[in-house]
Amino acid sequence: MAKNVLETPSVGPEQIENLFEDAYIGLRKFFLLKYCLDYNVFGLLEKPKTFEEIASWYIKQDFKENDNLLESILDALVQFGLIKRYNRSYDSNIIYYETSEVAKIYLNQESEFSNMGSLIRYHKNTRFIEKWLNLDKTLKSGELKTKKGSSSPEAVKRMAIDCRTGELKSTIDYLKGFEDIKNAKSILDVAGGHGLYGIALSYLNEDSKCKVFDLPKICEETKKYIEEYGSERVSIIPGNYFKNNFVDTLDDSNPEGYDLIFTSNSPDCKTPEVLDKICEATALNGIFAAKQIFPENTSKKYATRKAFDNMDWNMFSFAGAKKGKVCHTLKNSLNLDGYITHLEEKGFEIVDIFSLEEKKSLKDINNYHNNIKKGHLIVIAKKIRN
Ligand SMILES: C[S@@+](CC[C@H](N)C(=O)[O-])C[C@H]1O[C@@H](n2cnc3c(N)ncnc32)[C@H](O)[C@@H]1O
Repeated sequence: MAKNVLETPSVGPEQIENLFEDAYIGLRKFFLLKYCLDYNVFGLLEKPKTFEEIASWYIKQDFKENDNLLESILDALVQFGLIKRYNRSYDSNIIYYETSEVAKIYLNQESEFSNMGSLIRYHKNTRFIEKWLNLDKTLKSGELKTKKGSSSPEAVKRMAIDCRTGELKSTIDYLKGFEDIKNAKSILDVAGGHGLYGIALSYLNEDSKCKVFDLPKICEETKKYIEEYGSERVSIIPGNYFKNNFVDTLDDSNPEGYDLIFTSNSPDCKTPEVLDKICEATALNGIFAAKQIFPENTSKKYATRKAFDNMDWNMFSFAGAKKGKVCHTLKNSLNLDGYITHLEEKGFEIVDIFSLEEKKSLKDINNYHNNIKKGHLIVIAKKIRN
C-alpha cells in the first residue's frame, strides 16, 4: 500500500522552529552588536549623519559598498533603540541617523561607561566567545584555567563603573532607611575593591570611620578612589581574609567590634570560613549588611539564562579555589537558607531580605525564594547576642 501523504508527526514542528529562530536571531544580534562596538559605530553617530556620510565611512573602513545591506544594519539598530532615524522637515528626503541617548552613555567607546564590566565581558572577552564558537573543542580540551576571583586593578575599575551606573545609589538609598546603619560610627567594607560602597556609607554619618579591607594590590587602587571620592574618615586595610582575622583590624575607637560590616558581591563571604570572621568582628547590636547573589531559586522566567550561566561557570576553573557547580558559588558556599540559619546560629537576627532588582523587601513573603529574579539580594542582620 502507498504511504499516506497526509500522515503528520504526532507533534508539530513549531517548538523546534521557534527555538532555532530565536537562537539565530540571538546569534545575529550578538555579532552585529560586537561589530558596531569594534568599529565604534555609536561614536560615529554621536553627531547626526546622513546615509551618504555613513556609506562613505563604511567604504573607508574597507567594507564592500552595499547600500542595501548598510540600510538593513541601520534599520536593526533603530529597532534595538540604539540609534534614531529622522528627517528635519516635512518636505525633506534627507534622513539623519544619530546614536540614541542610552547608546551614547553606554556604547560610545569614548564614554567612561562603555568600559563597564558587564559589557566588556561579552564584547572584549574573546576567550569566552571562542569557547562557544568551538564548543566541541572546548568540551574536549577541559576547563579553562583562570586566576581565582576578579582581583585585578582593571577588574576593580570596571566594577567601580558598574556600580556607579545605579547599583551603588540604590543600595545606599535602601541602607539609609535603617537607623542602625545611619548611626554606625565604625564601618568595615569587606572585599571592598574600589571601596565606593564603604565611601558612600561613610557619607551617612559625619562621625563615622570606614575601613576598606581587600588584598594589598587591590588596596593600591582603593586609595585612588578614596582620594577621588572619599575623605580622611575612610582608610584601607590590606589583607587576606583567608589568612587574617577582621577582629585584628579593630582599634581603640571600637574595641568591641564594628557597628556595621558591609560586603558586596563576594562569593567568599558566603563561605562559613569568612562569614564566621565577619560575625566575630561585629559589635553587639551591630549590623551585618550583605549584598550577594544567591542564584538558587531564581524565578522560572530566568531558568534558561541560569542554565547557560552555569555552563559558562563550569567551563573554567580557578587556580586555588574549588568552585561550586552553580554560577557564583564556591565549593562550600552557603545557599540563602544556609546563610540565614548560619547567621542566626551566630547570634544574629534577620532584619530584612531585600531584592535589588525588584526594589522590594522579601522578608514577609512566605516563600521568598520563588520571588527572586536573578537572586541579587541584600540581607540585613543584627547581632543580638554574643
Ligand atoms: C567581585 S569583587 C567585589 C568588589 C566590590 N565589593 C563590589 O561589589 O564592586 C570581589 C573582591 O574580593 C576581593 N578578594 C578576593 N579574594 C580576597 C581575599 N582573599 N582577601 C581579601 N579580599 C579578597 C577582590 O580583590 C575583589 O576586590
